[in-house]
Amino acid sequence: MTIRIAVIGAGLMGADHARIVAEDLPGAALQVVCDMDAERARKVADETGAKDVADDPAMVISRVDVDAVIVASPDFTHAPLSLACIRAGKRVLCEKPLSQSPAECISVMQAEQAAGAPYVQLGFMRRYDEAYRQMKAALERGTIGRALMMHNFHRNVATPAADFTGAMAITNSAPHEFDVVRHVLGCEYRAISAFQPKRSDAVVAPVMMVLETDDDQLVNIEINNNAAYGYDTRAELVGEAGSIATNHVAYTRTDRALSTAAAYETDWRGRYAEAYRRQNRAFLQFVRTGNYPVLAASAWDGYATAVVAEAGVRALQTGQRQPVIMVAKPELYA
Ligand SMILES: NC(=O)c1ccc[n+]([C@@H]2O[C@H](COP(=O)([O-])OP(=O)(O)OC[C@H]3O[C@@H](n4cnc5c(N)ncnc54)[C@H](O)[C@@H]3O)[C@@H](O)[C@H]2O)c1
Repeated sequence: MTIRIAVIGAGLMGADHARIVAEDLPGAALQVVCDMDAERARKVADETGAKDVADDPAMVISRVDVDAVIVASPDFTHAPLSLACIRAGKRVLCEKPLSQSPAECISVMQAEQAAGAPYVQLGFMRRYDEAYRQMKAALERGTIGRALMMHNFHRNVATPAADFTGAMAITNSAPHEFDVVRHVLGCEYRAISAFQPKRSDAVVAPVMMVLETDDDQLVNIEINNNAAYGYDTRAELVGEAGSIATNHVAYTRTDRALSTAAAYETDWRGRYAEAYRRQNRAFLQFVRTGNYPVLAASAWDGYATAVVAEAGVRALQTGQRQPVIMVAKPELYA
């Protein structure tokens, strides 16, 4: 049976999801592209051959010819639209973050618990990236012994908006690292500290965070949204018997004039293209079977990252180490 999918939000990420559904997801059909900007919806629908366009997400979620939903509209819409999907009994692949408010994440978890099943798969796609998968598998095999530290770099060419702040780096960019580190280490965080160096201009400076896990490991995360040279994400996991680092991913290398060069992507879409595809395939299986995908990030993971992000913003604003305090994990997410 073909699964009819609606994509809500036809910006950068929504257009990418629409393309994956239309071209790379056997067994799925792109039923509707919805954006409050009707022209954007039409443009993406024309590019991908979507059956229909719409501008009202609530109407789209309730349509009988829509089996499942992908939410790729702005952050503040994620929790309300996920709740609408749960009410409609439809599985939703919701872009990260679930919400920047832990309380709102709790309301999504409560709705899932009342429904008796998880409905929300969160778009923390790095869990599906081959480099992180190999890192996690090697750690579980015992290849590097007990994990002690994980170093993470997240660099973008330039901030999307001139008024981007350090707090936004923590609530919007860092959740990828918050989640994938928890996933690889199998931990939660106990505390977070955050710092910023001084730049010579008015552009937002990088944010450096140090996190302590509940198993006494140390994690550092650099979010540098104005790194200038390219989109560059890296991680190194250091254990008692060795270390595992992700490699720079590039298909070619140019050697000339006594030097070697490999290109950087301009943003995340190329670097994580296969991870997005794998994630969306897992979502299709979830819709088909009702079985929650093994690797996927749930509403609980969305809650966990929202709590640490909130504490991180407080740490940056106060200059003080902040505890990360979470509610008990509901049984549904065990
Ligand atoms: N997983 C990832 O790697 C990744 C990467 C980038 C962005 N994101 C997330 O994806 C989401 C979208 O980011 P983007 O870069 O595509 O943004 P964008 O601004 O390019 O696109 C957002 C689109 O949503 C539309 N929109 C706004 N409110 C809407 C509503 N109520 N209903 C329907 N459409 C609405 C806008 O008109 C716009 O076309 C964000 O939440 C962001 O955090 C995830």
